[in-house]
Amino acid sequence: MNQKYSKFFDSFTFKSGVTIKNRVVMSPMTTWSSNDDLTISDEEVSYYKQRVNGVGLVITGCTQVLPNGQGFTNEFAGYSDDFIPSLQKLADAAKSGGAPAILQIFHAGNKAIPGLDAVSASASKAEADNPFEISVETRELSHEEILSIIRAFGDTTRRAIEAGFDGVEIHGAHGFLIQNFWSPATNKRTDQWGGSLENRLRFPLAIIEEIKKVIEKHATKPFLLGYRLSPEESSKVDGLRMKDTYELIDFLVEQNLDYIHASLDHVASKPVDSQDEKTRLELILERANGKVPVLAAGSMLTPDDALKAVELGLPLVAIGHALIMNPDWVEKVENGREAEVETELDVSKLDQLHIPGKLWDQIQASPGWFNIKK
Ligand SMILES: Cc1cc2nc3c(=O)[nH]c(=O)nc-3n(C[C@H](O)[C@H](O)[C@H](O)COP(=O)(O)O)c2cc1C
Repeated sequence: MNQKYSKFFDSFTFKSGVTIKNRVVMSPMTTWSSNDDLTISDEEVSYYKQRVNGVGLVITGCTQVLPNGQGFTNEFAGYSDDFIPSLQKLADAAKSGGAPAILQIFHAGNKAIPGLDAVSASASKAEADNPFEISVETRELSHEEILSIIRAFGDTTRRAIEAGFDGVEIHGAHGFLIQNFWSPATNKRTDQWGGSLENRLRFPLAIIEEIKKVIEKHATKPFLLGYRLSPEESSKVDGLRMKDTYELIDFLVEQNLDYIHASLDHVASKPVDSQDEKTRLELILERANGKVPVLAAGSMLTPDDALKAVELGLPLVAIGHALIMNPDWVEKVENGREAEVETELDVSKLDQLHIPGKLWDQIQASPGWFNIKK
């Protein structure tokens, strides 16, 4: 191994007691490839099995905690006990390389797939401003419904425990339901679930508390709890900005989580409105100030990209695209073969990459999402 990358290979122990062998994490990635009954398909199993052998920690693509929380077609589900065997199949595949695995849990809110009873903090029309977004009309949730969604996050956590996962990640990012509540752009409520900072944080707080109760009651070994956030809603005039993210980080620090996970388009991206020279990542690290471990994803394709972030003080790096293109990204770096890390998706090697058919369809349908080498 080139010694400059040795920092990636230090082990890391989370607050809950789970230890990982290195700092490279498989970023959560949806594959659009479940069976039509929303159980894990064999294609997904081989996709995971090929990618989990080098990383220190695996985070699965998101699973919906309720039927109307589905955000992608053919998205494996976690909303009823009938799905426990399917989740177990995923946990086995995700853990087959020896690394612990985390199930990412979510509700799509105003980005549910068309045809569902789309709900949000307030009635809204989602804006289709990225390849994942689908524009649907949503209705406002009632107080009782909010409570049942909170319970659903807890129930899916129990299923994750029963299926053999080592943790859950709350998907509070990407404009899904939790962010719908947190953001003043989508939360126009005047009851206890909207308005002030405290009220807009009430929904994530209740979800975290519910999940902690479930972990306390059902987990028989250390079980990780993380929270994913998007730092800014750059396309919305009244959307979230870094100042809001500082408040969110302060709130999350108080929750004693194992980690917070910043979803960045690029680890070098800068805040929308600021004249500041600092990147969002630097600002997030400053605010977290070592009080909670930070994981971040954002266009780290090569080991040098990841090294730059680690040298800024990022303890844990999440790799998405790069792991699709290089299932053995970590092994390449570990064995001094970093020059072999591909930054383009090589179509001639497609049959070796085990990319599920529907994921490949999505990649082809979204120009610019991946660099494709024909
Ligand atoms: C195919 C694909 C599916 C994704 N699905 C999810 C998902 O289910 N949950 C999530 O939080 N992020 C998802 N993301 C975002 C990634 O986790 C990551 O934050 C983003 O791609 C930036 O990191 P990267 O440049 O290393 O890919 C997805 C990304 C890709 C490429």
